[in-house]
Amino acid sequence: QVIRHIQQLRAAIRQARAKDSTLRVGFVPTMGYLHEGHASLLRAARQQCDLVVLSIFVNPLQFGPNEDLSRYPRDEQRDLALAEAEKADIVFLPSVEEMYPTPTQTVVSVSGVTERLCGESRPGHFDGVATVVSKLFHMVQPDAAYFGQKDAQQVAVIQQMVQDLNIPVQIVPCPIVREADGLALSSRNVYLEPEQRRQALVLSSSLKLAESLVAESKGAIDVSELHKAIIEHIRQSPLAEIDYVEIVAYPTLQPVARLRDASSVLIALAVKFGKTRLIDNTLISF
Ligand code: PAJ
Repeated sequence: QVIRHIQQLRAAIRQARAKDSTLRVGFVPTMGYLHEGHASLLRAARQQCDLVVLSIFVNPLQFGPNEDLSRYPRDEQRDLALAEAEKADIVFLPSVEEMYPTPTQTVVSVSGVTERLCGESRPGHFDGVATVVSKLFHMVQPDAAYFGQKDAQQVAVIQQMVQDLNIPVQIVPCPIVREADGLALSSRNVYLEPEQRRQALVLSSSLKLAESLVAESKGAIDVSELHKAIIEHIRQSPLAEIDYVEIVAYPTLQPVARLRDASSVLIALAVKFGKTRLIDNTLISF
C-alpha cells in the first residue's frame, strides 16, 4: 500500500491494530534510492514484526545550505519495486508540503552525542534528523524502528532522543552492508566517477588496517598512533580529502585517552571525493 498523506497513514495503521491487538509494527525510515543496506533493514523488520512500514522522504531540514539536497538521487518506481520484493506492507511517501506545511518552529536538538564527527562537520544536520524522525515516530507509532550502523552516530542520536523524550519505540541497530570489495553501500555512491569509486575503497581498507592494528596490539596501541596510521593510509589515495577521522567511546561519542578506557570504541571516517562525501565506521568491543 502506497500512502502519501499522514491522515491515511494513521488510518491504515489504526485499522491494522484494531484487527489485531498484539500487532507489532516495525518501521524503516529512509530517504529512498534504496539499496541492499535499506533492504537488510526491511528484512530485519519483516522477521521481527507483523506490519512493516517503510518511509521514503528526502528531508530538507537535515541538509546544509551547500549540501546535495537538490541533486540527491531519487527513483520512486525502483524503490517501490524493492519495497514490494522485501514485502513491506506500507510505503509512506509524503511530499515536503505534507511533512512541513508551515516552516517548523519546533526542533528536536540532541546535545552531547552530536558534538563531534558529523555533528561537527555538518552543523544542524542532526537537529534535522532528530526532528524528522520524531515526527515520523509520532505518525507511525511503531513498536520497533530499524537503523543501520553505517550511520553509527545517527543511531546514538536517535537512541538518546528516544530515551530522553520517553518515546515508546525499540531502536534496532543493524549491521553495515558492503559491496563485495568492501565499500559500504550508500545512495551517494552513484555520484562517484570510476576512478573515485576505485579510490573510495580506502575508507573500508583503512578501517581494516585499524582493526588489525588494534588486534595485534591487543588493544594497547596508542590512540594517537592509531589515528596517524589511518590518516597516512587514506592519504595514499590522491583523490581522497579527509573530513574527519575520529576514535571515540561508543555510544557516548566522547574522546578516549586509551582504547581500553571504553568497552566499545567507534572508529569513524568521513572522506570526500570531489563533491561526494562518504562515511564509514567500525565498532570495536573489548
Ligand atoms: P538514508 O541515508 O536513506 O538511510 C536510511 C537507513 O538505511 C539508515 O538507518 C541508514 O543507516 C541505513 N543504511 C544506509 N546504508 C546502509 C548500509 N550500507 N548498511 C546498513 N544500513 C544502511 O539515514 C537516513 O536516510 C536519514 O537520516 C533518515 C533516518 C531517514 C532521516 O531522514
